[in-house]
Amino acid sequence: MPNILLIGNGAREHALAEAITRSEQKPQLFSFMKTNNPGIASLSEKIKLGSYADLDAITEFAAENKIEFAVIGPEDPLNNGVADALSKINIPSAGPTKSLARLETSKSFTRNLVKKYNIPGNPQFRVFTTINGVEAFLNELEGIVLKPDGLTGGKGVQVQGDHFETKKDALKLCEQILAGGSSLIVEEKFDGEEFSLQCLCDGKTVVATPLVQDHKRRFDGDKGPNTGGMGSYSLPDHSMPFLKPKDLEDGLEITRQVAAALLKETGSPYKGVMYGGFIATKNGAKLLEYNARFGDPEAMNILPLLKTDFVEVCRHIIAGKLDKLKIEFEHKATVCKYVVPKGYGLPADHPDAASSKTKIEVGDVGKARLYYSSVDQKEDGLYLSSSRAIGIVGIADDLAQARKIAEEGVNAVKGPVAYREDIGTEALIQKRIDHMKKIRKD
Ligand code: GLY
Repeated sequence: MPNILLIGNGAREHALAEAITRSEQKPQLFSFMKTNNPGIASLSEKIKLGSYADLDAITEFAAENKIEFAVIGPEDPLNNGVADALSKINIPSAGPTKSLARLETSKSFTRNLVKKYNIPGNPQFRVFTTINGVEAFLNELEGIVLKPDGLTGGKGVQVQGDHFETKKDALKLCEQILAGGSSLIVEEKFDGEEFSLQCLCDGKTVVATPLVQDHKRRFDGDKGPNTGGMGSYSLPDHSMPFLKPKDLEDGLEITRQVAAALLKETGSPYKGVMYGGFIATKNGAKLLEYNARFGDPEAMNILPLLKTDFVEVCRHIIAGKLDKLKIEFEHKATVCKYVVPKGYGLPADHPDAASSKTKIEVGDVGKARLYYSSVDQKEDGLYLSSSRAIGIVGIADDLAQARKIAEEGVNAVKGPVAYREDIGTEALIQKRIDHMKKIRKD
């Protein structure tokens, strides 16, 4: 019976905990969490609460529980060097070292890597540490994207047309980003539709998992502020209806080349998940960014579909032998909807902002799967925090049924909560198809 360490406390990690404990190897799960996730706790042999920056606490917990390997869910512990610290006590991780996690933690590192190794997919871009030259470069671009160079919880990217309008506005935002002490990446904006390609990587071999589309905006119709992700869907053919087969091939080829470039650049194999945020454009798939972990919510779409033993998947990643394992996913549709506090993503003075820290009741979610995220389990019940609360996932033979199951599950959560009704609807997907037809002039 292997002992496995899971680090993380969100719904993505609840889905990881489920995938680990489903293994035929009958593993015992040991979970290190920032806050107590009741779903992960219920699947764990033992839990420990602590900070992801407390490397001593994490390594002590791992050593005393004779851990075979660790699975690192979120970006913060990767950025803090948890994989490096565990490796020093001979515990390997399915999750990259701090240096390799720069794939996510430093957007300039990844853009420069892609450029240096002549890998396709980059936009026109420049990295700035002072305001000198920023205005001239802004004037060269038709559409603009601004990114601070660091972890921003998915909320730091500013896109022309969504977050600001004019070049003058852009320049002001650039000044603000630089004043915050971070470098600034200014990029060309692509027109197209986004998709998440989460790949498993052992340093040499890259294996694609089913494609997912996330919905970052807070409200129906892709309106409102960006969030960590309000929900996502995937389809039985593991593709997206607005993509051409070449878009997936492009994304996978870019990821293969980036994995090889990481090995050449650092001398170390990348072991973990390379989650590429891609955008299909009229000129093929382009790279928006990489994350060094599974997506949240996207992990909830694909992990329940995994037919191959996840413990074996992790062992093959760690051993550099992914090419020896057949990795299979069920051909089903999935719809994930995040239940969030009504005030999630809204300004602090908004009347709904008070919805956080309120008690909620979770009734019978029927056929849906439920993954806890930021909730606080107190003696008298379950409380919201200020972030996403519960991921509800419907899985079925087709998208309409999957969505119905997810909706029924969402409606079982009572309290001052909200969710996006439109995720997984035909109307929203048709909008994406029509958009791609228009820009490709099909
Ligand atoms: N789905 C967005 C993220 O995981 O970063």
